[in-house]
Amino acid sequence: MARIVVVGSINMDLVTSVRRRPEPGETVSGDGFALVPGGKGSNQAIAARRAGAEVKFVGAVGDDVFADELRRVLHDAGVGVSRLRRVDGPSGVAAIVVDGNGENSIIVVGGANSRMTELDAADLEAIAVADVLLCQLEIPVQTVLAAARHAHANGTAVVLNPSPVHELPADLWAEVDIAVVNEGEAAQLGSALDAVPHVITTLGADGAIYRGPDGITLPQPGVRVKVVDTTAAGDTFTGALAAHWHEGPEIALAWASTAGALATTKLGASVSIPTHSEIERLLSR
Ligand code: RIB
Repeated sequence: MARIVVVGSINMDLVTSVRRRPEPGETVSGDGFALVPGGKGSNQAIAARRAGAEVKFVGAVGDDVFADELRRVLHDAGVGVSRLRRVDGPSGVAAIVVDGNGENSIIVVGGANSRMTELDAADLEAIAVADVLLCQLEIPVQTVLAAARHAHANGTAVVLNPSPVHELPADLWAEVDIAVVNEGEAAQLGSALDAVPHVITTLGADGAIYRGPDGITLPQPGVRVKVVDTTAAGDTFTGALAAHWHEGPEIALAWASTAGALATTKLGASVSIPTHSEIERLLSR
């Protein structure tokens, strides 16, 4: 069983479903509203845990009404929360609109995630003894860099999902072993990804493609499902990939793309992440 530490974000998602998005200045009636725990870091931690890894989460919630529920969801999923701090002020939130085609748009307000500016000795110790460090970009980039440097120096594999995408310092790319990007992110990052030994580009319903250090590529076909909501599909893919990376890219990609596809069949982030047996059932078909 892989030991994974996620250093990342945790948000309360405010999810509105609507057949058609409003144009600027227009008001439309929505079909539903739900509060669903999410955040790329938390989603990936839960996905890795459900895919079979032992997972610890390093992150921050605020002191507001969402904080206890955000912690509870991670804890109940079996993710270690001893490194989850509570800081003054609001927790991270994400305003999400899901349309009739299952496509989403998201506005994230960082809140407590923006206060994740330091790693303490216990965080660093957890990273050093893990097999995999898993990070995204919803916390300050300096913290991601510090975590990645420490992981690299201690032989812990660094998986980066550079989302939401923005330009990153070259120092950070030098610490990354495995990058997981979607097509838009790959296009935006361009040649920066050349420095990363293993790059997995997700292609939505068409699956994913892996490029290894020797330049060899491996396509992973898509898994056909009825899409309800794509929120957290990329997070679920990344978490499952990290959980199975030690079995080699071929097996890790099969788990990742099956888990990611299953995550699109339900509305919401954490609640759509499939269990181990759901993934296994679809994989064995
Ligand atoms: O990737 C999906 C996630 O992005 C949502 O859960 C939301 O919180 C945003 O962080």
